[in-house]
Amino acid sequence: MTLAHFPDGFTWGASSSAYQIEGAVRAEGREESIWDLFCNRPGAIDDGSDGRFACDAYDRIPEDIALMQELGLQGYRFSVAWPRIHPDGSSRVNQPGLDHYRRQVDALLDAGITPMITLYHWDLPRPLQSRGGWANRDTAARLGEFADTVGRAFGDLVPRFITVNEPWVHGWLGHFMGIHAPGLHDFGIALAANHHLMLGHAEAMEAFRASAPKAEAGIALVLSPASPFGDSNADLEAAHRQDGWINRWYLDALYRGAYPDDMLDLYRASLPEIGADDLARIAQPTDFLAINYYFRTTVRWNRDGGPLQIERVIPPNAQVSGMGFEIDPDGLYETLVRVHRDYAPVKIVIAENGLSVEDRLVDGAVDDPVRERYLREHLLAAHRAIAEGVPLDGYYCWSLMDNFEWNHGYTQRFGLVYTDFATQDRIIKRSGRWYAGVTRENAVPA
Ligand code: FCB
Repeated sequence: MTLAHFPDGFTWGASSSAYQIEGAVRAEGREESIWDLFCNRPGAIDDGSDGRFACDAYDRIPEDIALMQELGLQGYRFSVAWPRIHPDGSSRVNQPGLDHYRRQVDALLDAGITPMITLYHWDLPRPLQSRGGWANRDTAARLGEFADTVGRAFGDLVPRFITVNEPWVHGWLGHFMGIHAPGLHDFGIALAANHHLMLGHAEAMEAFRASAPKAEAGIALVLSPASPFGDSNADLEAAHRQDGWINRWYLDALYRGAYPDDMLDLYRASLPEIGADDLARIAQPTDFLAINYYFRTTVRWNRDGGPLQIERVIPPNAQVSGMGFEIDPDGLYETLVRVHRDYAPVKIVIAENGLSVEDRLVDGAVDDPVRERYLREHLLAAHRAIAEGVPLDGYYCWSLMDNFEWNHGYTQRFGLVYTDFATQDRIIKRSGRWYAGVTRENAVPA
């Protein structure tokens, strides 16, 4: 068997986020976030569930770290819940919330696992939503305050901070498609939310630079290459708009200090006020780009396809994930090489990549060869990108364990570890055992 070896010092990790795993929503001074509220809406979550218990990870730190050790993880990415640390969205710190994460960081370090903290993984404190949430420019400054608190508390211990997770998903699925919290359907608000999330990233960067000078900081973008379904000009242009919508909008802002002109033209009538310095601040240097990659997007032109006149299609022979995504490992290679060539971030880390499949627990074991293949093919694509000179220094699988998958509730399992939600038993899946081999060998079977 040939092995594709990764560079020395490459970090193998797994990812999670607070609301998706912690439960304990009323513990130690936590107040509500927009996700607690959204889950109360009839029909909002596929299985009518919520994150009240989730994986109960808040109270299972030692046990979960033991699992990470069994997987041989060198890194663990998690998010700090804003409603635990600044429950009213003001600068008042809820010390027990902060202490909880201190215990978690210490325990990870004791276990030889490097923590990577995401500041904002979509759990906006309710009081901030009452004041307009991300439609309100002031929310960006509140995120800066939160970064200041987190940077002061952990800046000497945690080497990497991610400011904002996936502004595209939060901005559009939450404020235009209405399928994520806060559940809005407004094009103008979605554009404002998107801009203010990027401004929030800038505020958080500035705060981390001051409060955590030893640590690295950057943002996490979900990226997806866009392909035209047909070869008509209309489809080619639709694919270009799709690329502008999900990829270029954020990458151009971060690395060129300007939103792309073609998208500005499309959005013109609904744009929020953009301050004279906003883009310069958004484009301030970062230490790395975190890329979350799941799928390729194929689109065709459709007059009725919303403001961008695009319709997503699944090509006839495509493989599709449990969430209806088009599986394409080459798309990861293409994304990494393109980002490196066109935008040249200093370093890149894959902060999320993984697959939901219908796992079944049979005789105490979960056999998931499809996920194992997905991971292997994506890792080999990443390996090819490294060979082309892409400065990729880590890979964090989504997810450590099955958890609350937002609007899909508990119907989508992404874990390397199976969660039995009735008993909170955790069972390492076949793919998890396979991944442990990868982390041990620093290599992937080719
Ligand atoms: C990403 C999210 C993450 C998880 C995966 C499946 O968009 O960042 O929380 O839901 O998708």
